[in-house]
Amino acid sequence: MALRFFDFPVAGDDLRADVLAGLAAQPKAIPPKYFYDAAGCRLFEAICAQPEYVLCRTEQTLMAAHLPEIAATIGTVDCIIEPGAGDCVKVRTLLDALRPSQLMVLDIAGAPLAAAAGLLAADYPGVAVTALGMDFIHNLEAAAPYLTADRRLVYYPGSSIGNFAQDDAVALLTRFRRLAGESGQLLIGFDLKKDPVQLHYAYNDAAGVTAAFNLNLLTRLNRELDADFNLDRFRHYAFYNPIAGRVEMHLVSLVEQTVCVAGQRFHFNLGEALHTENSWKFRNDEFSAIAASAGWKLVFCWEVDGFAVQLYG
Ligand code: AVI
Repeated sequence: MALRFFDFPVAGDDLRADVLAGLAAQPKAIPPKYFYDAAGCRLFEAICAQPEYVLCRTEQTLMAAHLPEIAATIGTVDCIIEPGAGDCVKVRTLLDALRPSQLMVLDIAGAPLAAAAGLLAADYPGVAVTALGMDFIHNLEAAAPYLTADRRLVYYPGSSIGNFAQDDAVALLTRFRRLAGESGQLLIGFDLKKDPVQLHYAYNDAAGVTAAFNLNLLTRLNRELDADFNLDRFRHYAFYNPIAGRVEMHLVSLVEQTVCVAGQRFHFNLGEALHTENSWKFRNDEFSAIAASAGWKLVFCWEVDGFAVQLYG
């Protein structure tokens, strides 16, 4: 088994600076990447198992149904790169089909990534696995020196691209293009626009797992930034905004209150929102226009039950 793991931990200063700036802004907002501490990663896995949140399961169905055709269209690759690999489960299907010699997995949550990559390396002894614990949104260039193989495929499943505003999505896809190189390819999965009521329930599951995921952000700030958020005074609130084409998640203050974070005080009015996530939904043509602005050319598109996977070269 061949596994290399390198950690580029997110500096505590980044979390502190981003959160303090976000709480001072109007409206208040915190970047969604900070959901993913150890508890947040577990809660996200639990969201994917909820009956209302079909996104991950639909993508798995699509990949299983079209795998031979997807693999044949991609052709030979030496290296798969998966940013945001998390538990490293999704990439196994592609490893089985494409048999590359190198796999690079990246995730902001370094410790769970290292554990998952260890299991993967044990199961695929012929693949040299490199795991990088890093904030690849800003630091992807640091991954380049660890890549030795040529024909590269960037795999970005799970509609993670939907968590970026359009300009940021173009910037990230441009970074993917640079890392993949001129002959590189991109296989990307994203959620399609659909019945807004279905989207509403996907982010308001009956078991309250998405609510717990959203509120866990405050628990993290209490622990890591010495904050004093009272979770009973905030309500998870998520809805589909059809004009913006996105699900918005907020934590809404149920009372007028002042919260202390890293020694600074922030006032919340009754009903004031802390915006924690956007999850954009696309039409196929909307998405390919975004990818084209980042220099990618559409090769093929597969679609199942409101979810799309597109291949770019
Ligand atoms: C990771 N990302 C694609 C998920 C989404 O649907 O935007 C995160 C999530 N937030 C609430 N539920 C799931």
